[in-house]
Amino acid sequence: MEGYRLNRFLSQEQIASIVQRLADQISKDYGGKELVLVCILKGAFMFLSDLVRYLKIPAQIDFVRLASYGAGMETSGIIEITKDIEIPIEGKDVLIIEDIIDSGRTLQFLKDRLSLASPRSVKICALLDKKARRQVEMEADYLGIEVDNVFIVGYGIDFDENYRHLPEIYYVTPNEPQKS
Ligand code: IMP
Ligand code: MG
Repeated sequence: MEGYRLNRFLSQEQIASIVQRLADQISKDYGGKELVLVCILKGAFMFLSDLVRYLKIPAQIDFVRLASYGAGMETSGIIEITKDIEIPIEGKDVLIIEDIIDSGRTLQFLKDRLSLASPRSVKICALLDKKARRQVEMEADYLGIEVDNVFIVGYGIDFDENYRHLPEIYYVTPNEPQKS
């Protein structure tokens, strides 16, 4: 993509150690419970698939896909479910798996929505968090790492549907103008 540069933020090894730490915490906290992981598509697919391989406890897995209407890189307040969960979650312990928390609106919407089905608990596991951009109160119960206000791609996370396949995480910066 012209006009942009990808700068490496996290290597495969750094991601693996973060995901392993999260999986250890989750395994410790959810032992003996009926854990359902709800992965938000598409961005969290790679994170989920690594996370479950490090878990030492059983978990059921489901997916939601959300559409949010807004311009460019911003999430608007209007969010809609375009693919809902299929597993009944009543009485179960739900853990939402998300790639990045930005304004917090997506997670606020999904947490409220899932709570309507009377799960025993609903918590949040996010790989990345742009805390400075928060517009609503929302904290991850399990957080990988905080990031500055930069645009992130790779490891499932896209820029206009590109770069999801990359095994590392990058931040995007505009290319320096050519010196004449
Ligand atoms: P929120 O509702 O504003 O918290 O938006 C969270 C969603 O916006 C994430 O699930 C991502 O899909 C998307 N998003 C936020 N920041 C980035 C980014 O830096 N790169 C790619 N997608 C992002
Ligand atoms: Mg997302």
